[in-house]
Amino acid sequence: MKTGVPYERVVDVQRRREEYSRAQMYYRCGLALASVATLLLVAMTLQNLLSTRGRSSSHSPVPSPRFHLPRAETCSDACRVVLVESIPEGLVFNSSIANPSIYQAWLNLIGEAHSTLDIASFYWTLTNKDTHTQEPTAHQGEDVLKRLAEVAEKLTVRIAVNEAHDKSTADLTLLTNSGANVRSVNMLKLTNGVLHTKFWIADKKHIFIGSPNMDWRSLTQVKELGAVVYNCSCLAEDLGKIFEAYWFLGQSGQQIPSPWPSTFSTAYNKETPLQLPLNGTQSSVYLSSSPPSLCAEGRTPDLQSILSVIGDANDFVYIAVMNYLPTLEFSRPKRYWAAIDTQLRQVAYERQIKVRMLISHWASTQPVMIPFLKSLASVQQDKNRLDIQVRLFVVPATPKQKEIPYARVNHNKYMVTDKIAYIGTSNWSGDYFLNTAGSALVVNQTGSQAQGPTVQSQLQAVFERDWNSAYSTPIDHAFQGNT
Ligand SMILES: *[C@@H]1O[C@H](CO)[C@@H](O)[C@H](O)[C@H]1NC(C)=O
Ligand SMILES: *[C@@H]1O[C@H](CO)[C@@H](O)[C@H](O)[C@H]1NC(C)=O
Ligand SMILES: *[C@@H]1O[C@H](CO)[C@@H](O)[C@H](O)[C@H]1NC(C)=O
Ligand SMILES: *[C@@H]1O[C@H](CO)[C@@H](O)[C@H](O)[C@H]1NC(C)=O
Ligand SMILES: *[C@@H]1O[C@H](CO)[C@@H](O)[C@H](O)[C@H]1NC(C)=O
Repeated sequence: MKTGVPYERVVDVQRRREEYSRAQMYYRCGLALASVATLLLVAMTLQNLLSTRGRSSSHSPVPSPRFHLPRAETCSDACRVVLVESIPEGLVFNSSIANPSIYQAWLNLIGEAHSTLDIASFYWTLTNKDTHTQEPTAHQGEDVLKRLAEVAEKLTVRIAVNEAHDKSTADLTLLTNSGANVRSVNMLKLTNGVLHTKFWIADKKHIFIGSPNMDWRSLTQVKELGAVVYNCSCLAEDLGKIFEAYWFLGQSGQQIPSPWPSTFSTAYNKETPLQLPLNGTQSSVYLSSSPPSLCAEGRTPDLQSILSVIGDANDFVYIAVMNYLPTLEFSRPKRYWAAIDTQLRQVAYERQIKVRMLISHWASTQPVMIPFLKSLASVQQDKNRLDIQVRLFVVPATPKQKEIPYARVNHNKYMVTDKIAYIGTSNWSGDYFLNTAGSALVVNQTGSQAQGPTVQSQLQAVFERDWNSAYSTPIDHAFQGNT
């Protein structure tokens, strides 16, 4: 498969598309039938109750109509989820909380793939060559690139990448020459944004999603977090629809369809999440996506998912993101954008939710982030049980590590509440939700009696490890007086 896509595969894709739309049609018909049946049932139940108990019964066990609504299908795959991290060289925690590495997760996915591997990516710099360094810690990235090139000779490897990243050229030329299909998506032209998503899909069955770019530093010099879900074709198929949208837009001259054809639609969203077992625990899961123009019917936009997760918290909201700004970072003239900021202040004020924000500080931090974070951190008063706290996480660097460009930073993009784990790929400022392509995995296990750890409890442990570590400083202590 050195040259392009063989004819059979094109036909195969076409056939699969048709199957999808047929499945979609059956699903819709099923939905319609089920709705009619539900209405009848509800009507009968109501009539029964009304005639036997009268209208005044205040504790009547009328089943909520929602109970009967057809749920999106459940999934019987024995999905296994693992949180994975990159911990920068030299960073040491006084804690037993440790997760497998992202490097290992990527090797596992490469090893598990027998027919297809799809990767959505921002840019590619997996070797020392690209940064003109001689870093021994580039070895892991170089190994990933080598193995990807090997599998590209045997399997269908598709890579969607943001257009106009010259530095991606060397890696992508190698992969293309090995047989990978690469499409660059011109998000600048399409939405005035970039393709910033980072996920993998192996054999339409195993997935990875998280903060790391296809960059050797993401494995050894930058702090990253992601999730890998094995043996989970239902979730992988849904993530595949987001990939197919990038793949479609990667054709030259392509416009964003409006509406998107139904093959891109999903039944799984914040209202009707996918029901599946994760490590044996029944879970509600969905994938959100941004910007809204890339969301086909049924897809929850990423901003809506963040706002609803914050709004659904009962006790706390912990947020760990690299950048947090209530603005459009890249817009000129400047624009204020406070959707998330307002939601945080609102839950803190109205419902006394504890908000903790762990934000990164490094050489490239925009100074304007600091006063906005201080403003949030000033929402703090015992009497009214106002409790928002902000800490800055700094990844220390030796003089030698300081020479590595764009490294030594906490690049995490996740949120954990007392109920939900949210693992995303976006910085938290307006641009990432309005123009830039990103996506997130939202896991809700509150409905079930979990045996052992949940994704939520594991992510909470990661947050608390970092929050309580010597690398975090309350923002008031970090910047006394002027910034
Ligand atoms: C997927 O499930 C199969 C069958 O249970 C199992 O043999 C295999 O090891 C699993 N793969 C992964 C990556 O967990
Ligand atoms: C996140 O924000 C930083 C600073 O603006 C930017 O350099 C980076 O490209 C953004 N995206 C990534 C890679 O997470
Ligand atoms: C999580 O699941 C519970 C019960 O299954 C549901 O009531 C709640 O709305 C869900 N939360 C979110 C943010 O989806
Ligand atoms: C799921 O199981 C794997 C081992 O198969 C384990 O590494 C991981 O921590 C478990 N995840 C959760 C959320 O329990
Ligand atoms: C670990 O604990 C020691 C002793 O309490 C402390 O000096 C050090 O700063 C801690 N390191 C981290 C990374 O938290």
